[in-house]
Amino acid sequence: LIDVAFTPSELRRTDVAVVIDVLRATSTATSALAVGFRMVVCVDSVEQAAAWRAQGRVLAGERNCIRPPGFDLGNSPLELAGCQGEVLVLATTNGAPTIVAAARYARTVVLACLLNLDAVLELLQGLESSPYRDIQVVCSGTGGATALEDVYVAGRICAELSGRRSDAALVAESVSRAYESPLEALAASANAGVLRAAGLGADIAYCSSESTLKIVPRLAATSAGAAIIVDGARAEHHALHAAIVDERDTVSSP
Ligand code: MLT
Repeated sequence: LIDVAFTPSELRRTDVAVVIDVLRATSTATSALAVGFRMVVCVDSVEQAAAWRAQGRVLAGERNCIRPPGFDLGNSPLELAGCQGEVLVLATTNGAPTIVAAARYARTVVLACLLNLDAVLELLQGLESSPYRDIQVVCSGTGGATALEDVYVAGRICAELSGRRSDAALVAESVSRAYESPLEALAASANAGVLRAAGLGADIAYCSSESTLKIVPRLAATSAGAAIIVDGARAEHHALHAAIVDERDTVSSP
């Protein structure tokens, strides 16, 4: 079954959860792996992020779209250009907690946005003959409510997959067909308005670019309530993440 959760409250047990927060958490996580971060540690809260602080780690995130005090970066994928580090710790209001929650429901969790649309589709289409083909596309939404931009991306994904669809998947596909371009859909959303008001309008255009990154952020492990995300295409990351998780666990527990 190909299904869509319009908000994280609809998460259910599934083979594959595809989490979307196109404005901006999954766009930021994808961009971080593209610029060379080896992993993104998604956490539930700003406080949890602080507990992950260590040398070589960069803390990124937002509260009300703005970089929290003491953080190195906000949640803008554009801020990552030229940024170096091994581990990005990401604390955002909706996207990062949805990724953490999805890890409790699905063994395979991947992060999708428009930047990596083709790469995610390639992975999902590769599952077409697999018996493990119950896919839930999970929209992070905003504060428990539906976010248009996430539903648009969910619809774009569902439209390219073959197989039985839930009504939610059909609704998402209809939404995606209503817009002529990704930018038109993202720019029409309430969250785009919030970003523009915060002076972050450039992120909307950047997050609307389609299939520019060949990265599939994928859950590698969970540790102390965090979801450890690596580029699913790069196997060496798995060994590295294990080393870092061990180190994290022996240092302290939040
Ligand atoms: C979130 O996780 O709520 C969003 O990514 C917010 C944002 O755009 O910074």
